[in-house]
Amino acid sequence: MKPTTTPCRRRTFLGGCAAASAVTLTACAGADEESEPSQWVEVLDAESLAVGASEQVQVGEEYFLLHRVSDAEVRAFSAVCTHQGCTVGVDEDRGTFRCPCHGSEYNLVTGQVEVRPAEDPLDAVEAEISEGVIRLYL
Ligand code: FES
Repeated sequence: MKPTTTPCRRRTFLGGCAAASAVTLTACAGADEESEPSQWVEVLDAESLAVGASEQVQVGEEYFLLHRVSDAEVRAFSAVCTHQGCTVGVDEDRGTFRCPCHGSEYNLVTGQVEVRPAEDPLDAVEAEISEGVIRLYL
């Protein structure tokens, strides 16, 4: 399966508050204010991301990559490719996060580059599973 800038498994959150799902959204108000302090943002029901699975989620206009490491642990990264800024997606066939622009691939757990041209790892984002919800500190 070829990844695209908008993989079919992508789930969109905070694109509009009216698009809320079963997950409680906490950052609808002022989501695009640059000076907003960091806060935990609920992005996905933890039950929908099995251990070993990966997912791309959208928060406002930004995309993030998730990988469920265990029942209690999830890793998260910015989906901005460190090569030239395209949006990285999940390539389930190759078991990597893969950029559709020039083919860079990143490790699902560490975000480190596995296939160049990118040289730098994806930017890690603090993530946790709390009360059945995956949250990112943004
Ligand atoms: S922008 Fe991602 S590989 Fe070039």
